[in-house]
Order: sequence, then structure tokens, then C-alpha cells
Amino acid sequence: MAALKVSGTIRVPGDKSISHRSLILASLTEGVSRIRGILDSDDVRSTAETLRALAAKVPPLTDDMRVKGSGLRGLRQPRRGLDCGNSGTTARLLAGVVAAHPFSARFEGDASLSQRPMKRIAEPLTYMGAQVEFEHGDGLPMTVRGVDLRSIDWDTGGSSAQVKSAILLAGLISAVEVRITEKARSRDHTERMLRAMGVDAESDGNQVCLRPIARLNPIEVNIPADPSSAAFFVALGALASEGQLTLTEVCLNPTRTGFIDALIRMGASVDRHQTVSSGGEEIGSLRVSPARLKNLRISEAEVPALIDELPLLACVAAAAGVDLEISGAAELRVKESDRISAVVHNLRTVGADAEELPDGLRVHASRRPMSGAVDPRGDHRIAMAFGILSAASGNRITVTNPECVAVSYPRFWEDLRRVTA
Ligand code: S3P
Repeated sequence: MAALKVSGTIRVPGDKSISHRSLILASLTEGVSRIRGILDSDDVRSTAETLRALAAKVPPLTDDMRVKGSGLRGLRQPRRGLDCGNSGTTARLLAGVVAAHPFSARFEGDASLSQRPMKRIAEPLTYMGAQVEFEHGDGLPMTVRGVDLRSIDWDTGGSSAQVKSAILLAGLISAVEVRITEKARSRDHTERMLRAMGVDAESDGNQVCLRPIARLNPIEVNIPADPSSAAFFVALGALASEGQLTLTEVCLNPTRTGFIDALIRMGASVDRHQTVSSGGEEIGSLRVSPARLKNLRISEAEVPALIDELPLLACVAAAAGVDLEISGAAELRVKESDRISAVVHNLRTVGADAEELPDGLRVHASRRPMSGAVDPRGDHRIAMAFGILSAASGNRITVTNPECVAVSYPRFWEDLRRVTA
């Protein structure tokens, strides 16, 4: 591996999951909410645009914005289909919102989103009383007809924050009690934000229970930096041969820090400084220095806390020349791309030794120099993971269609250039 020197302090953009939720919940309040540090990216724009189509008063995304809520059940039947773009969070969370309103809406998405499974939200929402119709399979387009929903006690059988949040939002708007049980706890930003707004949304292990309320009060949120975006630079700092990187104001919610924990298990040197807790979320800075990394195995129980970082972890293993095995992560096959296939195919293209498993992948230690052109299949996280592999290896690895990072981290390539200059 070529000598890579890194330096600098980066405040990566706002957390994507919290950004979606802040717009949705603010639109359901009575009063004016203030949102600071929202992520202005394609996915969050999809949520903003979809909410506007439902007559929510969402202004253009700015760093310090105010949203006047329409109240619970105050949204209106859209005049056109709801274009969710590439964003699964937009489609699934807003399906829960529409299910609890007395109208119907047709959810649409781009080619990638149209292939992603929606039955997981259709089932609980149908059980609650809504009607959900598909035109083919269980992907978009999907028409949701809302009603006054009934209470639900639902075991998702898996771990999905999008499913959990769709049910929580449906229950919140219909003012009915909902209880959701998961196999492993998924990211809990919705519950945390609801609690910060005074809603009784109690979490107990893998279960969350929401009790009805009559109205939702406005919120004031400061959105921390996205740990999934910060992860790319944490990885780069660990893979470098010299220097140090600091990531500030990162959301350190334990349902999101699995990648940092995994990297530390590999031998990385990451100092965490927890500073504040804001809007129910832990926030802090991370300082990462180069280290010699070791082999790693990731199994099912750990997957939810680093699901979005698994492609990056595979690239870290390839760059460090260590063995990695990931299992219990079949969910990766139904993300923005089939991430198991996309990662393994591209690793092999550049000369790394990798193989697919039905529910994960293996990377085998290799010291061969890597080079070649990576096709991220339009998937932002694949593009960025290989961007880090390229920078760390110092070889000629190019990423085609690099603009797809606009989904979650529009200025990724600029930040990467800055800290490696
Ligand atoms: C998200 C939840 C996760 C994650 C996705 C964002 C969210 O998906 O992979 O990038 O904001 O709720 P699942 O809920 O499908 O696991």
C-alpha cells in the first residue's frame, strides 16, 4: 500500500435518518418547529418534496429552517403520485403517515427503489386497517388508502427502523397504542425524537410502545453529523500511514456506532469524546490515527448497528490486506443495490480476493496491488466505500458515476480531496 498522509478536521453533513424524521414530525405538529443542520441531499429532498405534495408547509432546505406544522391528520390528498426518488426511508415512513389519513396516495420511486420490498410495511399497515395495493410484486408503485387505524402489537421478525417508524407514525397520527418487537434493536431516532417532543414512546430492549396523544408540540432540533458519512473518514484515518483525522459533532447513538466498535476490534485507534446530548441524541467527536488492522468476523446480532457501513468494512479489509467474514446480513441484498453482489463484484474487478455468501461475504487477505474501474450501480455507499479504498491503496481505482453520492453526502469527494491533500 502506498504511503497515505491524512490531516484535518471534518464536520460531515447532518444525519440522514434524523433529517427525514425532523421534517416528517415537524409537519405533524401544531406550531412552528426549528431545524438546524439538516442534510441537504437528494434523499432528504425527496422527503421534503413528498411532504409538500401532501400539503405540508416545508420550505426549501436551509441550515436553519422553520417548519409550520399542519397538525395530526392535517395533510391533504396529493394531486399527483408521490415521487420518493431513491429513498426507502421516504417511501416507508410516509406510507405510515398516509395510512393514517383519510385519503389515498400512490408512491413511486426510481428504478432502484421500485425493486425494494414494501410488503414489510404493507403487512402491519393493512393489519391496522389501511389498504395497500401493488401493481406488480411488492415494490413501488404502491397505493396506500388511509383510514382511522386500530391499535397493533407487531413482531417484525427482523430489525428495521423503517418498518418500526412506519408503524409508530401510523399509531401517532391515528392516536392508537402501538407496540413493536424486533429481533434486534434497529436505529431508534424516531422514538428518541418523539420522547424529546413529550410523547410517551417507551423503549425496553427490542420493544417499543407508543401511547396515544391528542396533539404534537413543535420541536427544536440540532441535527448532528451523520455517523454513516463520518465512517468513511474514520476508515481512511485508520488505513493511512501517517497523520490524524478528527470528526466533530458526530451522532454517537449506540444503535449507529457498530462500525466504530468493529474497527476498534480490528485494532484501530479511535478516541471518542462524548460531549453533549441534544434532542435525545448523544453527540461527540472522534479522533482516528493509523494502526495495523487485524482479521474480523461480523455476525447477525451486530449487523443492525452497522448495516449501512458493511460495504465500507469490506473495502477496509481489502485495503488492509486482512480476512473479513460477514454473515447474517442478507438484508444487504435489498438495499439501494444488492450490496453483497456489488461489493464482491467490484472488489474482484480491482483485483482483491472476495466471495459472496447467501447472507454476507468474505474478503481474503491479499497483498496484490489493486486497480481498475468500479461500477457502484448508482449506489451512493458503494461509490464512497470504493473512494476510500482508492485513496487508501494509492492505486488507480476509478469510480464511475461518482455523482451518485448526492443521495447522502453531496460534498464527499471534496472532503476526501481536502484531507488527503
Ligand atoms: C434507515 C434505516 C435502515 C438503513 C437506512 C436508513 C432509516 O434501513 O439501512 O439507510 O432512516 O430508518 P432499515 O430500516 O430497512 O433497516
